[in-house]
Amino acid sequence: RAFLYRLWKGTVSSRMLNPRLQKAMRYYMSFNKHGVRFRGRREVRRTGPELLCELRRRVRVRTLDGKEPPFSALGWRPLVPGVPLSQLHPRGLRTCAVVMSAGAILNSSLGEEIDSHDAVLRFNSAPTRGYEKDVGNKTTVRIINSQILANPSHHFIDSSLYKDVILVAWDPAPYSANLNLWYKKPDYNLFTPYIQHRRRHPTQPFYILHPKFIWQLWDIIQENTREKIQPNPPSSGFIGILIMMSMCREVHVYEYIPSVRQTELCHYHELYYDAACTLGAYHPLLYEKLLVQRLNMGTQADLHHKGKVVLPGFRALRC
Ligand code: C5P
Repeated sequence: RAFLYRLWKGTVSSRMLNPRLQKAMRYYMSFNKHGVRFRGRREVRRTGPELLCELRRRVRVRTLDGKEPPFSALGWRPLVPGVPLSQLHPRGLRTCAVVMSAGAILNSSLGEEIDSHDAVLRFNSAPTRGYEKDVGNKTTVRIINSQILANPSHHFIDSSLYKDVILVAWDPAPYSANLNLWYKKPDYNLFTPYIQHRRRHPTQPFYILHPKFIWQLWDIIQENTREKIQPNPPSSGFIGILIMMSMCREVHVYEYIPSVRQTELCHYHELYYDAACTLGAYHPLLYEKLLVQRLNMGTQADLHHKGKVVLPGFRALRC
Protein backbone atom coordinates (compact mmCIF):
# COMPACT_ATOMS: atom_id res chain seq x y z
CA ARG A 1 0.00 0.00 0.00
CA ALA A 2 2.87 2.41 0.73
CA PHE A 3 3.71 2.41 -2.98
CA LEU A 4 0.14 3.33 -3.94
CA TYR A 5 0.09 6.27 -1.49
CA ARG A 6 3.33 7.56 -2.94
CA LEU A 7 2.01 7.16 -6.49
CA TRP A 8 -1.02 9.28 -5.55
CA LYS A 9 1.35 11.92 -4.19
CA GLY A 10 3.80 11.62 -7.08
CA THR A 11 6.78 10.64 -4.97
CA VAL A 12 7.63 7.17 -6.33
CA SER A 13 10.79 6.16 -8.14
CA SER A 14 11.63 3.05 -10.11
CA ARG A 15 13.81 1.87 -7.20
CA MET A 16 10.60 1.19 -5.26
CA LEU A 17 9.41 -1.34 -7.84
CA ASN A 18 9.83 -5.04 -7.23
CA PRO A 19 13.21 -6.46 -8.32
CA ARG A 20 11.73 -8.38 -11.25
CA LEU A 21 10.27 -5.20 -12.79
CA GLN A 22 13.50 -3.30 -12.17
CA LYS A 23 15.42 -6.02 -13.96
CA ALA A 24 13.04 -5.93 -16.92
CA MET A 25 13.42 -2.14 -17.11
CA ARG A 26 17.23 -2.43 -17.13
CA TYR A 27 17.00 -4.98 -19.92
CA TYR A 28 14.94 -2.64 -22.12
CA MET A 29 17.31 0.26 -21.32
CA SER A 30 20.33 -1.63 -22.63
CA PHE A 31 18.51 -3.25 -25.55
CA ASN A 32 17.23 0.05 -27.04
CA LYS A 33 15.38 -1.80 -29.76
CA HIS A 34 14.07 1.34 -31.49
CA GLY A 35 17.38 3.20 -31.60
CA VAL A 36 16.32 6.05 -29.30
CA ARG A 37 18.78 8.95 -29.01
CA PHE A 38 17.46 11.59 -26.67
CA ARG A 39 18.71 15.03 -27.66
CA GLY A 40 16.60 17.12 -25.30
CA ARG A 41 17.24 18.25 -21.73
CA ARG A 42 15.62 17.04 -18.57
CA GLU A 43 13.64 19.94 -17.09
CA VAL A 44 11.91 18.34 -14.18
CA ARG A 45 10.88 21.46 -12.32
CA ARG A 46 7.83 22.41 -14.44
CA THR A 47 4.62 22.75 -12.43
CA GLY A 48 1.36 21.12 -13.55
CA PRO A 49 0.03 24.30 -15.24
CA GLU A 50 3.36 24.93 -16.98
CA LEU A 51 3.43 21.37 -18.19
CA LEU A 52 -0.13 21.64 -19.55
CA CYS A 53 0.80 24.68 -21.60
CA GLU A 54 3.94 22.96 -22.83
CA LEU A 55 1.81 20.01 -23.97
CA ARG A 56 -0.65 22.31 -25.70
CA ARG A 57 2.19 24.12 -27.47
CA ARG A 58 3.91 20.99 -28.73
CA VAL A 59 1.52 18.08 -29.06
CA ARG A 60 0.07 17.71 -32.55
CA VAL A 61 -1.91 14.57 -33.19
CA ARG A 62 -0.64 13.30 -36.51
CA THR A 63 -1.73 10.32 -38.61
CA LEU A 64 -0.46 8.88 -41.89
CA ASP A 65 -1.91 11.00 -44.71
CA GLY A 66 -0.43 9.02 -47.60
CA LYS A 67 1.58 12.00 -48.83
CA GLU A 68 5.01 10.79 -47.68
CA PRO A 69 7.14 7.98 -49.12
CA PRO A 70 6.78 5.06 -49.21
CA PHE A 71 3.01 5.52 -48.75
CA SER A 72 2.66 8.14 -51.53
CA ALA A 73 4.08 5.76 -54.12
CA LEU A 74 1.91 2.94 -52.76
CA GLY A 75 -1.23 4.90 -53.57
CA TRP A 76 -2.31 5.55 -49.99
CA ARG A 77 -3.42 9.13 -50.53
CA PRO A 78 -6.99 8.30 -51.64
CA LEU A 79 -7.17 5.36 -49.23
CA VAL A 80 -6.80 7.20 -45.93
CA PRO A 81 -9.90 8.99 -44.57
CA GLY A 82 -10.56 12.33 -46.21
CA VAL A 83 -11.20 14.05 -42.86
CA PRO A 84 -8.18 14.05 -40.53
CA LEU A 85 -8.63 12.71 -36.98
CA SER A 86 -8.06 16.17 -35.51
CA GLN A 87 -10.91 17.54 -37.66
CA LEU A 88 -13.53 14.89 -36.84
CA HIS A 89 -14.98 17.10 -34.09
CA PRO A 90 -13.88 20.54 -35.23
CA ARG A 91 -15.68 22.42 -32.45
CA GLY A 92 -14.40 20.00 -29.83
CA LEU A 93 -16.27 17.58 -27.59
CA ARG A 94 -17.35 18.72 -24.14
CA THR A 95 -16.31 15.97 -21.75
CA CYS A 96 -14.60 12.70 -22.63
CA ALA A 97 -13.78 9.49 -20.78
CA VAL A 98 -10.62 7.45 -21.20
CA VAL A 99 -11.25 3.96 -19.81
CA MET A 100 -8.13 1.98 -18.98
CA SER A 101 -8.38 -1.79 -19.16
CA ALA A 102 -6.93 -2.34 -15.67
CA GLY A 103 -8.31 -5.04 -13.39
CA ALA A 104 -8.83 -2.34 -10.75
CA ILE A 105 -11.94 -1.11 -12.56
CA LEU A 106 -13.81 -4.29 -11.56
CA ASN A 107 -16.46 -3.59 -8.88
CA SER A 108 -16.10 0.16 -9.42
CA SER A 109 -19.73 0.75 -10.57
CA LEU A 110 -18.33 3.52 -12.80
CA GLY A 111 -20.31 2.43 -15.89
CA GLU A 112 -23.05 5.04 -15.64
CA GLU A 113 -20.62 7.89 -15.04
CA ILE A 114 -18.44 6.76 -17.96
CA ASP A 115 -21.40 6.59 -20.35
CA SER A 116 -22.51 10.11 -19.37
CA HIS A 117 -19.53 11.59 -21.24
CA ASP A 118 -19.87 12.86 -24.81
CA ALA A 119 -17.22 10.45 -26.05
CA VAL A 120 -15.58 7.34 -24.60
CA LEU A 121 -12.14 5.99 -25.54
CA ARG A 122 -11.27 2.31 -25.01
CA PHE A 123 -8.24 0.19 -25.83
CA ASN A 124 -7.44 -2.88 -27.87
CA SER A 125 -9.78 -5.81 -27.22
CA ALA A 126 -11.33 -4.47 -24.00
CA PRO A 127 -15.01 -5.51 -24.12
CA THR A 128 -18.04 -3.80 -22.63
CA ARG A 129 -20.53 -6.67 -22.87
CA GLY A 130 -20.83 -8.34 -19.47
CA TYR A 131 -18.94 -5.50 -17.75
CA GLU A 132 -21.41 -2.62 -18.30
CA LYS A 133 -21.87 -1.88 -14.60
CA ASP A 134 -18.17 -1.15 -14.16
CA VAL A 135 -17.02 0.14 -17.57
CA GLY A 136 -20.19 1.33 -19.33
CA ASN A 137 -21.18 0.37 -22.86
CA LYS A 138 -20.53 3.46 -25.00
CA THR A 139 -17.44 3.41 -27.24
CA THR A 140 -16.59 6.33 -29.51
CA VAL A 141 -12.92 5.72 -30.22
CA ARG A 142 -10.81 2.57 -29.94
CA ILE A 143 -7.03 2.66 -29.98
CA ILE A 144 -5.55 -0.61 -31.19
CA ASN A 145 -1.96 -1.75 -31.38
CA SER A 146 -0.59 -3.55 -34.41
CA GLN A 147 -0.94 -6.97 -32.77
CA ILE A 148 -4.73 -6.60 -32.87
CA LEU A 149 -4.54 -6.12 -36.64
CA ALA A 150 -1.90 -8.73 -37.35
CA ASN A 151 -2.83 -11.58 -35.02
CA PRO A 152 -5.84 -13.59 -36.25
CA SER A 153 -6.72 -14.56 -32.67
CA HIS A 154 -8.17 -11.05 -32.19
CA HIS A 155 -10.69 -11.47 -35.05
CA PHE A 156 -10.13 -7.91 -36.19
CA ILE A 157 -12.03 -8.56 -39.40
CA ASP A 158 -15.30 -9.77 -37.88
CA SER A 159 -15.42 -8.83 -34.20
CA SER A 160 -18.08 -6.25 -33.31
CA LEU A 161 -15.55 -4.52 -31.01
CA TYR A 162 -14.04 -2.80 -34.03
CA LYS A 163 -17.29 -1.82 -35.79
CA ASP A 164 -19.11 1.55 -35.56
CA VAL A 165 -16.22 3.27 -33.78
CA ILE A 166 -13.36 5.54 -34.75
CA LEU A 167 -10.28 3.30 -35.00
CA VAL A 168 -6.76 4.54 -34.30
CA ALA A 169 -3.93 2.04 -34.83
CA TRP A 170 -0.24 2.29 -34.00
CA ASP A 171 2.98 0.28 -34.18
CA PRO A 172 6.41 0.99 -32.67
CA ALA A 173 8.57 2.52 -35.42
CA PRO A 174 12.28 3.42 -35.25
CA TYR A 175 12.96 6.58 -33.20
CA SER A 176 14.29 8.16 -36.40
CA ALA A 177 10.71 7.87 -37.71
CA ASN A 178 12.13 6.68 -41.04
CA LEU A 179 8.93 5.54 -42.71
CA ASN A 180 10.73 3.39 -45.30
CA LEU A 181 12.50 1.39 -42.59
CA TRP A 182 9.28 1.10 -40.62
CA TYR A 183 7.26 -0.03 -43.64
CA LYS A 184 9.80 -2.78 -44.38
CA LYS A 185 9.99 -3.96 -40.79
CA PRO A 186 7.05 -3.03 -38.57
CA ASP A 187 6.81 -4.73 -35.17
CA TYR A 188 3.65 -6.44 -36.48
CA ASN A 189 2.46 -5.94 -40.04
CA LEU A 190 -0.45 -3.56 -39.65
CA PHE A 191 -0.23 -2.13 -43.15
CA THR A 192 -1.79 -4.98 -45.11
CA PRO A 193 -4.83 -5.42 -42.82
CA TYR A 194 -5.24 -1.63 -42.68
CA ILE A 195 -5.48 -1.32 -46.45
CA GLN A 196 -7.85 -4.31 -46.66
CA HIS A 197 -10.10 -2.78 -44.02
CA ARG A 198 -10.07 0.65 -45.68
CA ARG A 199 -11.17 -0.93 -48.97
CA ARG A 200 -13.97 -2.91 -47.33
CA HIS A 201 -15.20 -0.15 -45.00
CA PRO A 202 -14.29 3.16 -46.64
CA THR A 203 -16.73 5.18 -44.52
CA GLN A 204 -15.39 4.06 -41.12
CA PRO A 205 -12.87 6.58 -39.75
CA PHE A 206 -9.68 4.54 -39.33
CA TYR A 207 -6.22 6.07 -38.88
CA ILE A 208 -2.64 4.99 -38.31
CA LEU A 209 -0.71 7.25 -35.92
CA HIS A 210 2.41 8.88 -37.33
CA PRO A 211 5.60 7.66 -35.58
CA LYS A 212 6.65 11.30 -35.13
CA PHE A 213 3.63 11.87 -32.89
CA ILE A 214 4.42 8.82 -30.76
CA TRP A 215 8.07 9.71 -30.29
CA GLN A 216 7.22 13.34 -29.63
CA LEU A 217 5.21 12.12 -26.64
CA TRP A 218 8.18 10.00 -25.53
CA ASP A 219 10.50 13.04 -25.71
CA ILE A 220 8.11 15.05 -23.55
CA ILE A 221 7.92 12.30 -20.91
CA GLN A 222 11.74 12.03 -20.78
CA GLU A 223 12.22 15.80 -20.65
CA ASN A 224 9.99 15.98 -17.62
CA THR A 225 11.37 12.97 -15.72
CA ARG A 226 14.45 12.95 -13.50
CA GLU A 227 15.29 9.29 -14.18
CA LYS A 228 16.18 7.75 -17.53
CA ILE A 229 13.03 6.18 -18.92
CA GLN A 230 12.68 3.03 -21.02
CA PRO A 231 13.57 3.81 -24.68
CA ASN A 232 10.26 2.37 -25.89
CA PRO A 233 7.04 4.07 -27.05
CA PRO A 234 4.57 5.29 -24.43
CA SER A 235 1.66 2.96 -23.69
CA SER A 236 -1.61 3.16 -25.61
CA GLY A 237 -3.09 4.64 -22.45
CA PHE A 238 -0.84 7.71 -22.52
CA ILE A 239 -1.27 8.11 -26.28
CA GLY A 240 -5.05 7.99 -25.82
CA ILE A 241 -5.04 10.58 -23.04
CA LEU A 242 -3.21 13.05 -25.27
CA ILE A 243 -5.44 12.41 -28.26
CA MET A 244 -8.49 13.12 -26.10
CA MET A 245 -6.89 16.25 -24.60
CA SER A 246 -6.66 17.63 -28.12
CA MET A 247 -10.28 16.74 -28.99
CA CYS A 248 -12.22 17.47 -25.76
CA ARG A 249 -12.67 20.39 -23.37
CA GLU A 250 -12.28 18.10 -20.35
CA VAL A 251 -10.91 14.57 -20.06
CA HIS A 252 -11.75 12.10 -17.27
CA VAL A 253 -9.27 9.23 -17.11
CA TYR A 254 -10.35 6.08 -15.25
CA GLU A 255 -8.01 3.62 -13.49
CA TYR A 256 -4.78 4.80 -15.06
CA ILE A 257 -3.50 5.91 -11.69
CA PRO A 258 -4.87 3.02 -9.66
CA SER A 259 -7.59 3.49 -7.04
CA VAL A 260 -7.85 1.66 -3.73
CA ARG A 261 -8.94 -1.31 -5.87
CA GLN A 262 -5.38 -1.64 -7.24
CA THR A 263 -4.64 -5.25 -8.17
CA GLU A 264 -2.10 -7.24 -10.12
CA LEU A 265 -4.95 -8.45 -12.33
CA CYS A 266 -3.73 -7.12 -15.66
CA HIS A 267 -7.08 -6.57 -17.45
CA TYR A 268 -10.64 -6.55 -16.13
CA HIS A 269 -11.62 -9.01 -18.87
CA GLU A 270 -8.84 -11.58 -18.53
CA LEU A 271 -7.60 -13.91 -15.79
CA TYR A 272 -3.95 -12.95 -16.00
CA TYR A 273 -1.86 -11.40 -13.23
CA ASP A 274 1.22 -9.26 -13.77
CA ALA A 275 2.25 -6.07 -11.94
CA ALA A 276 4.03 -4.94 -15.14
CA CYS A 277 0.64 -4.15 -16.71
CA THR A 278 0.06 -1.37 -14.17
CA LEU A 279 3.64 -0.25 -13.51
CA GLY A 280 5.37 -0.97 -16.80
CA ALA A 281 8.29 -3.03 -18.06
CA TYR A 282 8.47 -2.40 -21.82
CA HIS A 283 6.55 0.91 -21.74
CA PRO A 284 7.74 3.85 -19.57
CA LEU A 285 4.36 3.47 -17.84
CA LEU A 286 5.39 4.48 -14.30
CA TYR A 287 6.80 7.76 -15.63
CA GLU A 288 3.75 8.40 -17.80
CA LYS A 289 1.61 8.03 -14.70
CA LEU A 290 3.78 10.36 -12.63
CA LEU A 291 3.41 12.98 -15.36
CA VAL A 292 -0.37 12.56 -15.50
CA GLN A 293 -0.51 12.71 -11.69
CA ARG A 294 1.17 16.15 -11.87
CA LEU A 295 -1.51 17.35 -14.31
CA ASN A 296 -4.49 16.12 -12.29
CA MET A 297 -7.10 18.80 -11.56
CA GLY A 298 -9.61 16.41 -9.98
CA THR A 299 -10.10 15.73 -6.28
CA GLN A 300 -8.08 13.36 -4.12
CA ALA A 301 -11.31 11.53 -3.23
CA ASP A 302 -12.02 10.83 -6.93
CA LEU A 303 -8.44 9.65 -7.39
CA HIS A 304 -8.57 7.29 -4.43
CA HIS A 305 -12.09 5.89 -4.90
CA LYS A 306 -12.65 6.11 -8.66
CA GLY A 307 -9.07 5.99 -9.85
CA LYS A 308 -10.07 9.15 -11.71
CA VAL A 309 -7.83 11.91 -12.99
CA VAL A 310 -9.43 15.05 -14.50
CA LEU A 311 -7.48 16.92 -17.16
CA PRO A 312 -8.33 20.09 -19.09
CA GLY A 313 -8.47 19.78 -22.85
CA PHE A 314 -6.00 21.95 -24.73
CA ARG A 315 -8.64 24.36 -25.95
CA ALA A 316 -9.89 24.98 -22.40
CA LEU A 317 -6.43 26.18 -21.32
CA ARG A 318 -5.43 29.80 -20.89
CA CYS A 319 -1.71 29.87 -21.58
O1 C5P B 1 -3.00 -3.61 -22.02
P1 C5P B 1 -3.55 -2.56 -22.91
O2 C5P B 1 -2.45 -1.76 -23.62
O3 C5P B 1 -4.58 -3.03 -23.87
O4 C5P B 1 -4.29 -1.53 -21.95
C1 C5P B 1 -4.62 -0.23 -22.36
C2 C5P B 1 -3.90 0.80 -21.53
O5 C5P B 1 -4.43 0.82 -20.20
C3 C5P B 1 -2.42 0.49 -21.35
O6 C5P B 1 -1.71 0.97 -22.47
C4 C5P B 1 -2.09 1.23 -20.06
O7 C5P B 1 -1.82 2.58 -20.32
C5 C5P B 1 -3.40 1.11 -19.27
N1 C5P B 1 -3.37 0.01 -18.28
C6 C5P B 1 -2.98 0.29 -16.98
N2 C5P B 1 -2.95 -0.70 -16.05
C7 C5P B 1 -3.32 -1.95 -16.36
C8 C5P B 1 -3.70 -2.26 -17.68
C9 C5P B 1 -3.73 -1.25 -18.62
O8 C5P B 1 -2.64 1.44 -16.67
N3 C5P B 1 -3.31 -2.89 -15.40
